[in-house]
Amino acid sequence: MSLKEQLDLQRLPRHIAIIMDGNGRWAKERGKDRLYGHHEGVESVRTIVEGCAELGIGYLTLYAFSTENWDRPVYEVNGIMELLVSTIRKEVSTLSKNNIRLQVIGDMEMLPAQCITELNEAMSLTAQNTGLTLVMALSYSARWEIVNAAKKMAEDAKSGKLDPDTITPQIWQQYLCTRDIPDPELMIRTSGECRISNFLLYQLAYAELYFTNTRWPDFRKEHLYQALLDYQTRERRFGKTSEQIQQNEEIIS
Ligand code: IPE
Ligand code: IPE
Ligand code: MG
Repeated sequence: MSLKEQLDLQRLPRHIAIIMDGNGRWAKERGKDRLYGHHEGVESVRTIVEGCAELGIGYLTLYAFSTENWDRPVYEVNGIMELLVSTIRKEVSTLSKNNIRLQVIGDMEMLPAQCITELNEAMSLTAQNTGLTLVMALSYSARWEIVNAAKKMAEDAKSGKLDPDTITPQIWQQYLCTRDIPDPELMIRTSGECRISNFLLYQLAYAELYFTNTRWPDFRKEHLYQALLDYQTRERRFGKTSEQIQQNEEIIS
């Protein structure tokens, strides 16, 4: 049986989040420039987006560029931004054809003007699509997002729009970039690093974490299926006991 056939289609995550890491090392290992790794990583993005759409996954969030990544050498940052513009331009028709909706989370204002234009166009062109929602995290960091949410909440409280006594996790969520997006059930990080690196800190509270040594440019559908199979062996307890979870499952089935 293929890995795909082994998947329980009733127990797939609604939302998968991926830290696409290892482009630089992948290129270096081949004696190439880091930018070559970023270019090759685009093929993995294409494949994994397609793989998620085929499985009927609702949301895929890809961490493409962090707030901290602005501090990389200018040459690399510029290269990544150019790659972003050309990729969106090339891929927007495929997104539309495949009923995929594009969204962006992060401090978009930090991006070069041309990037913003391309992204806005692609987002409005795909806004009505009802299949997979592809969320690109660009110039994103969770601490930026959380501080931003706190600022907006404080402003709303000051102007009388928000009563501080009514703030709950649900209200807090409305102030995050991911306000209309369910929390990821599965977070994958490629290339061996076992850390979160400022990604979706609030939203990942109960996500299952999956780390693989595979570098992002090598990541293909089979690797995705492997991660999903691993996810399907996990018991998600949300603070309860194993017995409670099993009883609940018996009631449902
Ligand atoms: C991930 O690959 C892509 C970005 C952060 C933009 P890296 O560029 O971090 O690759 P490594 O981790 O240096 O190998
Ligand atoms: C995280 O990768 C950010 C993205 C993949 C966009 P980094 O390569 O920037 O993270 P660190 O520096 O290893 O923690
Ligand atoms: Mg890295």
